[in-house]
Amino acid sequence: MPVLCLIIFQSFPVNLDVLMIINIFAFSLSVLFTIFIIYFFFMVYSNLSGAPFILTSNARLSKVLELIKLPNGSKIAELGSGNGKVVATLTQKGYFVTGFEINPFLVLLANLKIRKLNLQNNCKIYWKSFWNVDLSSFDAIYVYGIPHIVDRLEKKIVTECKSNTYIISIGFHFKNLIKISKGDGVTIYQKQ
Ligand SMILES: C[S@@+](CC[C@H](N)C(=O)[O-])C[C@H]1O[C@@H](n2cnc3c(N)ncnc32)[C@H](O)[C@@H]1O
Repeated sequence: MPVLCLIIFQSFPVNLDVLMIINIFAFSLSVLFTIFIIYFFFMVYSNLSGAPFILTSNARLSKVLELIKLPNGSKIAELGSGNGKVVATLTQKGYFVTGFEINPFLVLLANLKIRKLNLQNNCKIYWKSFWNVDLSSFDAIYVYGIPHIVDRLEKKIVTECKSNTYIISIGFHFKNLIKISKGDGVTIYQKQ
């Protein structure tokens, strides 16, 4: 569309300054349109491969902190780390947190947040699908997903996680993991 505008406008004899403004406008529009298309692609892709971007609420995050009984320095993986809110909060509580996020815009946003809070030495956020991550080195896994990935994710957890790994699940339930505590839409499981 912006290219078409450009061609139409350029077919008429106009002042050079006006033409330049039109060119800049058309170029900016193309850039914005491209960014929107890429963002839209990643939104759809993340829906299919995990969950759409929905933040853990403050109330649920407080519940997580109340329920998890992990020693300081424990390693937590967040599967689908969104804008880095959970990574930042857990890191501030003394955990080493690694976030994996499929949407590069959210990875950028999260990394800016981490830098702003000066937490970069104790956490990392990677642009990577969590399906391609080996979960064996983590003491806990945090995930806010949607039902269609539960069975596949449960298999991955059972196969890869070491014994006693905690699974912090927001909003959805695993059938075969042992539930150890629950409240306000937060469920904590432990792998046997
Ligand atoms: C429901 S949001 C949760 C965001 C954050 N964990 C929170 O609780 O505030 C799920 C996130 O997972 C991301 N996601 C979906 N599929 C993914 C995948 N295969 N690998 C990495 N991230 C994924 C989405 O882009 C989205 O940011």
